[in-house]
Amino acid sequence: MSVPFILDTDTAQDDCVAILLGILDPVADLRAVTMVAGNVGFDQQVANAMMTLSVAGALGDYPVYLGCRRPMVREWVSAENVHGDGAGGLSMDMDGLSPESEHAVDALLRLTAESPGELNIVAIGPLTNIAMAVVKDPSFPSRVKHLFIMGGSNNARGNITAAAEFNFYVDPDAAKIVFQAGFEITVVPWEPLTVQDALFTREQMAEIGSQPSPVARFFGQVCEATLEFDESVGIHGSTHPDSLTVAVMLHPELVTKSAPYSVDIEADSELTRGYSAMSWGIHDLRPNARVIEAVDGPAFFEYVKGHMATATEPSRPLLGLAP
Ligand code: BDR
Ligand code: CA
Repeated sequence: MSVPFILDTDTAQDDCVAILLGILDPVADLRAVTMVAGNVGFDQQVANAMMTLSVAGALGDYPVYLGCRRPMVREWVSAENVHGDGAGGLSMDMDGLSPESEHAVDALLRLTAESPGELNIVAIGPLTNIAMAVVKDPSFPSRVKHLFIMGGSNNARGNITAAAEFNFYVDPDAAKIVFQAGFEITVVPWEPLTVQDALFTREQMAEIGSQPSPVARFFGQVCEATLEFDESVGIHGSTHPDSLTVAVMLHPELVTKSAPYSVDIEADSELTRGYSAMSWGIHDLRPNARVIEAVDGPAFFEYVKGHMATATEPSRPLLGLAP
């Protein structure tokens, strides 16, 4: 049975891989891509999403809605030091390509109103669009089947600060609203899960990237900057939290350990801004999310590798893509 969902993304590096899985996995029924401010400049993110659709031969097949260009109340914080332009220097002729005119927040509200209880949302960037939809219409959570969130750390190290993971750090106010809004939530955290189970070594990256398909070459090029960054901070490989979030939704059998938690986000302190307090059941707090604690890492690697081997005919040429 196929899984209908909307992908909310700040497209750069692993977000591109997440989009590819959402298109190439036959189980996936991607209804819309919604864009949110996060990793790199907003317009670059849109270009990255368009290039990703193009390399999969799917340009024009999926609506792309532009959402919030900055966090709810704070200045945007970039991760360009991690991702570069997020697309490995690739470019594409964007002539005649136009995203939908409807705002992403309105699209989220409308699409879930048209199919109440049927659509999942996978949120792999800051939670600004999702929180804005809640603010605009508090009944929104009741219409979403399940919200899969990549963000936070499970009482462990952050990545942008010692305390915080990037997505929650960028818009902690939005994250706080979302966890209190009444969604059915699954969280794919950064530490320890991603660094433990969604880490591909340089050898594994080469194994995926050397497969004879445009998608595989795209994968290799797009992920190179982050692989280098991860290695420079002592992580021994390339991290794939966003694609893991899509994979966990489409293939729940990948999950080997998860538990109910009560999750709240720090939005007042500067020192611990975006910290996710994940209470595991002994503090008399009502659980509001399932947190993934472990997945089958080798199976996840084979899953990504398999889909990156898909033969596609890119919709438009990508300039700079290795032959
Ligand atoms: C998250 O932040 C972004 O840089 C990645 O795309 C991922 O969603 C990891 O902290
Ligand atoms: Ca992301």
